[in-house]
Amino acid sequence: MGLQPEIIVANHPGELAERGARIFVQTAKDCVAQKEFFSVAISGGSTPRPMHRVLAKEPYRSEVPWKKTHIFWVDERCVPLDHPASNYGQAREDFLDRIPIPSEQVHAMPGDVSPEKGARSYQEEMQRFFQGTQGALPAFDLVFLGVGKDGHTASLFPGIWGAGASEKWVLAVKGGVPDVYRLTLTYEVLNGARKICFLVSGQEKAPIVKAILEGGGGDLPASRIRPPHGKWLWLLDKEAASLLFL
Ligand code: 6PG
Repeated sequence: MGLQPEIIVANHPGELAERGARIFVQTAKDCVAQKEFFSVAISGGSTPRPMHRVLAKEPYRSEVPWKKTHIFWVDERCVPLDHPASNYGQAREDFLDRIPIPSEQVHAMPGDVSPEKGARSYQEEMQRFFQGTQGALPAFDLVFLGVGKDGHTASLFPGIWGAGASEKWVLAVKGGVPDVYRLTLTYEVLNGARKICFLVSGQEKAPIVKAILEGGGGDLPASRIRPPHGKWLWLLDKEAASLLFL
C-alpha cells in the first residue's frame, strides 16, 4: 500500500501533549469554518491524559470552539461511569468538567449497561448524529488513538479479526488491562475518519511502534488503521520513536 503516515516526533511527553492539543484546536477551527461543527473521537488509557489536561488550560481552552464540538469515544471499559477505569470518568476529571461544552455534545459510550445493549445504543447515537450517513459509515473529523505493547488500538485486540461487518459500528469485546468487557468502534468506522492521530509515548512502546511503522506490522490491529481518504499522523515522543530510522 502506497499510503504513508506523517510522523511527528516531540522532544518530551509535555511537548507531545502540546502538539496533540494544537492538532485538536486547529482541526476544530478548520472544521467549524467549513461546516459549522467538529466531531472528535478520543481514546482512553494514560497517554492522552496530559493532552486532555492541556486542552482545559489557556490558551487552548479559549481557542477551541467548544459550543460546536462533539466528543465521542473510540472505546470504553464496561464499568460504571464513576469507576476509576472509566475512560469517560477520566476525561471528565482531565478536561470535560472544566470546559464550556454543552453536556448533550459529550457522547459517552454507555459502559454501565450490558455490553451488547451498549454497543447497539452507541451505534444509534452515532447514527442520529451522522444523519444522512445511515447505512454508510460515519466520518469523524478527528480520531485520537493509542497503541498497546501488543499492538492493540482502541479495544481492537489481536485476534478480534471478525470485527469487520460495516453494518456493525460498535463491538462488545473482552480483554486488555483491566480485563473487562469493553465497547469499541470497528476498524471500518475508525478508518472512515478524515484525520487519525496516533499518540504514543515512552520507551516501552518503541518496539511495537517500529514493528508497525517499519516492520509491516503483520497482523497487528494498529497496522490495520490506514484511512484511505483521510490524513494519517503518528505523533510520538523521542522515546517511542527511538528505534525508528527517521
Ligand atoms: C483504552 C484505549 C487503548 C489505549 C492503549 C494505550 O481504553 O485502554 O483506548 O487502546 O489507547 O491501550 O494505552 P496507554 O496510553 O495507557 O499506554
